[in-house]
Amino acid sequence: MSFTLWFTGLSGAGKTTLSRCVYLELRRRGLAAELLDGDIIRTNFSSELGFSRRDRDVNVRRIGFVSHLLNRHGVVSVVAAIAPYALARAQNRELLENYVEVFVNCPLEVTERRDVKGLYARARAGQISNFTGVSDPYEEPRTPEVTCFTDREDVATSVGRVLEYLQDKGLAPPAADCQPGEDCERADRQWRSRLARLGYARAD
Ligand SMILES: Nc1ncnc2c1ncn2[C@@H]1O[C@H](COP(=O)(O)OP(=O)(O)O)[C@@H](O)[C@H]1O
Ligand SMILES: [Mg+2]
Repeated sequence: MSFTLWFTGLSGAGKTTLSRCVYLELRRRGLAAELLDGDIIRTNFSSELGFSRRDRDVNVRRIGFVSHLLNRHGVVSVVAAIAPYALARAQNRELLENYVEVFVNCPLEVTERRDVKGLYARARAGQISNFTGVSDPYEEPRTPEVTCFTDREDVATSVGRVLEYLQDKGLAPPAADCQPGEDCERADRQWRSRLARLGYARAD
C-alpha cells in the first residue's frame, strides 16, 4: 500500500513548486510516483467543471479516486490542488488508506503580492469570479500532517520538512539508504513537453 501526499493551499502558496521537488526526490529514492497537479487534472479529467462548490468538490473527489487507484498498485500519488473545502478533503482521507495532507500555509497578502500567474489582479478587477481567497472560501486544514510556512521558509526547508515526515512514518526511505538513483528530472521534463505538444498539458 502506497500513499497520497496532498498539497493544499491558496493559489500562489507554493503547491506546484513544493510538490514537484518532493515528487522528484521520491523518484530519486526509487519510489514509483505520479504527480497530479490541479492544472493537469482540470485539462484532462475535469475540463467541463467550473469553480462552484459542487464542481470543486467533484474535481477533488476525482483526484482522490485516481490517487486511490494509483496507491492500490503501489504508486505514490503527489497532488497539488487547492481543495478548499474541508469536507471534500475529509472524504478523500477516508477513501485513501495513507493520506498525508500538507498545508502550504501562506497569508493571502503574500500570495497576492507574488501573483505568480496574474490571477489575483484579474480576480480583484472582477474578471474572474469564485477566486479562492478573494471571492471564494478557503477552509484551512485544522489537523494537517505537515504545515509549510512558505512566507517564512525557503523551498529547501519546506521540502525537507515534508520528506522528514515521510521518513519518520516509514513511507519514504532516507536518502542515505538509497543508491544514487536515476535523476528523472530531465526525462520528466521531456515527457511533460511531449504532453504539452499533444494538448494534454500546458507548456511550462
Ligand atoms: N518556501 C516556499 N515554498 C514554495 N514556494 C515558494 C517558497 N518561497 C517562495 N516561493 C515562491 O512562491 C511561488 C509559488 O508558486 P506556485 O508553486 O505556482 O504556487 P501554487 O501552485 O500554490 O499556485 C513560486 O514563485 C515560488 O518560487
Ligand atoms: Mg499550482
